[in-house]
Amino acid sequence: MRLTETEKRMLEGQFGEALAKSLQYIVQFGEAFDAEQLEDIRYCHYPAEMAIYEGSIEELQEFAAEQNVVAIPTTSSTLCADMQCPEKTGIPLALAQNQSKACIAHRKLGIQPTYTCTPQLNGAVPAFGTPIASVESSAIIFFNSLLGARANRGGLFTKFSAVTGKYPKMGYMLEENRAGQHQFQVEDFPVNPMENSLWWSALGFVVGSHVGSDVPVVCDLPVAPIERWITLGAAMATSGSVSLFHAVGHTPEAHTLDMAFQGKKPNSTRTIGKKELVSAIEQMTNLSSNEKIDFVCLGCPHYSLEQLRLAAAWLQGKKIDASVRFWICTSRMVRSMAQSSGYIKTIEESGTKVIADTCPVESHMRISTCQEYHLPIPQIQALVTDSFKMARYTKDLIGCKVGLTTTEKVFQSALEGRYLVW
Ligand code: F3S
Repeated sequence: MRLTETEKRMLEGQFGEALAKSLQYIVQFGEAFDAEQLEDIRYCHYPAEMAIYEGSIEELQEFAAEQNVVAIPTTSSTLCADMQCPEKTGIPLALAQNQSKACIAHRKLGIQPTYTCTPQLNGAVPAFGTPIASVESSAIIFFNSLLGARANRGGLFTKFSAVTGKYPKMGYMLEENRAGQHQFQVEDFPVNPMENSLWWSALGFVVGSHVGSDVPVVCDLPVAPIERWITLGAAMATSGSVSLFHAVGHTPEAHTLDMAFQGKKPNSTRTIGKKELVSAIEQMTNLSSNEKIDFVCLGCPHYSLEQLRLAAAWLQGKKIDASVRFWICTSRMVRSMAQSSGYIKTIEESGTKVIADTCPVESHMRISTCQEYHLPIPQIQALVTDSFKMARYTKDLIGCKVGLTTTEKVFQSALEGRYLVW
C-alpha cells in the first residue's frame, strides 16, 4: 500500500503508540482487500459498544484509557437502554450501570453522545463525495445512496478510523463499484401518506432479498419525504446486505437510468407490484388478524421530529390498551426538540413511551441477555410494527410473534390491544 509521509510517521509511532496501533489495523485491513492507499475520512458514526455484548465495555474503556481521541466529528450508535431514564425500559440496574460506563468512555474519546441509528436526523449530513466511516447498516445505506457520501460497512474497524481519520480506499469509496447492477420497476405503489411507511419497508425488503449485497436501481418511485427513504434503505439492508442503492430521479448518482448504471447494462430487470409486497408482509407476519398483542413499536429506524408530531396528532386525547406497552423510538436530540414542542407530553398522556438511545431489538429484552440476567423469556409475546427491520429482528432475537401493518393500524392496534391487519 502507498502511504503518505504523514501516514508513515504515524505508523512509526511519531504521533504516539496508540495511533500507530490503530493505523496498523487499518493498513492490514486495507491490504487484505488490496487497497492501494488510504482515504482521509471526514466523519465517523461510531459503534456504541453495548453492554449486552460480553467484553464490549471493557474493550471500550481500554481503548479510551490508551489516550485515544477522535480525529474527526464522530457521532455514536445505539445503546441497550434509554440512558437518560433507564427505568423507562425496565432494564436490570446492573446492566444499566455497566452501559453508563460506555457513556463516560465516549466523552473521554470526544464522541458526540447521539446514540441513534439515524444520525442524519441530528445534523450528520456528509456532503456528496465525502469519504466517511460508519456502523449501522440503515445509516450507511442512507449516507451512500441519498447523500452520495462514500462509505462501506465499517464494523469493528470504525473505531480505528475515528481516531486516525483514515480508511482504506476500497469498496464503495471507488467510483466504479458504485454502478447499479439490477433494475427494479415499481408498479401500483400505494401513496397514502400515513400508510406509506409499511409499503416502503416492504419494497426495500423485497429488493434486498433479490440483490443480496449488489447495488439495486429502483425506477418509478414517487417524491417522498426523507423518512420514507430511511425506511426503504433500512429494509434493503435487512433482507440483503445492501449498502448502496439508486432511485432514478431521486438520488444524486441517478439523475437518469443510464447514469445509475454508469452506462452499463443491468444484470437483471424485474417488476415489483403490490402483489409481491403483500406476499412479503404475509410471510413476515405470524400473528392472526385480531390476535391479542402486548407490545407495539414505531420508530425503526429512529423517528424524526415530524414523525413524532404526527404521532402526537394521532394519539391526542386517546388511551392505549392497558395490556399493551407502546414504544416510539427516537434519538435523545429529537426527543428533546419534541419535548419543547409539547409532542412528548401529548404522546405520553396516551400511555405510550417515547424511548431514546435504544429500541426493543437493542435492549435487555434479547433472549441471550434475558438468560444472563435470569429474566423471563420471551419478554414480548406478540408485537405489532410497520417496520420489516423491527419485525425480522424481534422475531429472531426476542423470540416473539410479530404482525406488520400500516402506521395508522399500528396506532389503532395499540388502542385496541389486538393485531389489526393492514
Ligand atoms: Fe434503529 Fe433499532 Fe431499528 S437500532 S434501525 S430502531 S432495529
